Amino acid sequence: MSVKILRGRVLSFKNEPQGIYDKASYIYIEKGAVAIKNGKIIALGEYKEILAANKNAKIIDHRPHLIMPGFIDPHIHFVQMQVVGSYAANLLEWLNKYTFVEEQKFASLEHGQKIAIAFFDELVRHGTTTASAYCSVHAASAEAFFDEAKKRNMAMIAGKVMMDRNCPELLQDSPQKAYEESKSLIKSWHNVGRLKYAITPRFAITSTPEQLEMVGALLEQNPSCYLQTHLSENNAEIALTKQLYPGHNDYLSIYDHYGLLGKKSLFGHAIHLSQSEKSMMAETGSVAVSCPTSNLFLGSGLYDLEVMKKAGVRSAVATDIGGGTSYSMLRTMDEFYKVQQMNSNRLNPFMSFYMMTLGNARALSLEAEIGRLQVGSYADIVVLNAKATPAMALREQTINSLSEELFLLQTMGDDRAVEQTYVAGRAVKIHS
Ligand code: GUN
Ligand code: ZN
Repeated sequence: MSVKILRGRVLSFKNEPQGIYDKASYIYIEKGAVAIKNGKIIALGEYKEILAANKNAKIIDHRPHLIMPGFIDPHIHFVQMQVVGSYAANLLEWLNKYTFVEEQKFASLEHGQKIAIAFFDELVRHGTTTASAYCSVHAASAEAFFDEAKKRNMAMIAGKVMMDRNCPELLQDSPQKAYEESKSLIKSWHNVGRLKYAITPRFAITSTPEQLEMVGALLEQNPSCYLQTHLSENNAEIALTKQLYPGHNDYLSIYDHYGLLGKKSLFGHAIHLSQSEKSMMAETGSVAVSCPTSNLFLGSGLYDLEVMKKAGVRSAVATDIGGGTSYSMLRTMDEFYKVQQMNSNRLNPFMSFYMMTLGNARALSLEAEIGRLQVGSYADIVVLNAKATPAMALREQTINSLSEELFLLQTMGDDRAVEQTYVAGRAVKIHS
């Protein structure tokens, strides 16, 4: 297999930036290059040196653009592409009126296959190379998802949603059926190529205690799988959850009761947590996945990164399509920034780009493989152009530093700023 060299300005994080001047937290190579072989990074550094060591390599010149690790989206609903922008007053209305209707279409494998193609096309157009996705209740939707992800050699996490109450009958499984189908999907797909399985009870409202019991058993039997669900997104949701599960101290205690907390447990939203819930998250290493565009769109609330950090809770940031309104992690971080402003906290641009890459990789415990440009990592890469639109190009003329450039990309960027996306070293963004 021949070597490919991507030439451009290389940026990759080594650690969480402690401030705008924390140069030790990242590597930045102005006249840089990344060498790729067999889908993995074999070298990075100064272009001249990389070229000297790989004289016969194919060179792809991305100057003056930024070469970064591909974006990671740790909470997205693959089956909600046709739900984005549905007009609802709040989460529960949105679920009942639109989402539970749309997800019924995924009983058809053909529909799942069609949407899976559109889904991965859309992700890579936006520079996202890894996601943790919710499928529908139908095992066929997960089959369609994994099948398409495997064809593209993408690092993807997903699971069939488990739900046996409080949704249309056509979307209900049962404790036993959810267990059997998930078990069979784990056997077929978990750790196949770059794929991983997430055991996916939708949330406590749509699972009976008997089903959560089965979820706990499945997780115990498959400790290398992920667990993903929703937690404390909306006040009415929290009230209904407490009503359905009396006798528990709070929302998170329900999941804890069934053994669902841990380092590979991803809790979407986690906005309205009590002190004791935050402590439980911190003690178990569970991950809170904030979804800013969704939380604003559905009026769910403002996630406070600083408060969660002080409580020792691991945080990630995600799109939550279709409650979320953009596939772009740049747009998502822009909204996350504004939410933190509302909390009187300023998120620095290095921290934003850390979160979209290495931060989210760490949240998924995948930092050895993705999220960082380092020898041995997969060559999942995004190339960013800060002059992608006329307005961006004009604004770019007044920029004097890397942090300003990143902030411009975050504030004005979207899929147009994604010049190219590489999955395991292969260019996959088609410009139309
Ligand atoms: N809570 C339970 N299901 C969902 C969902 O599909 N989207 C969001 N945003 N919250 C949920
Ligand atoms: Zn969600």
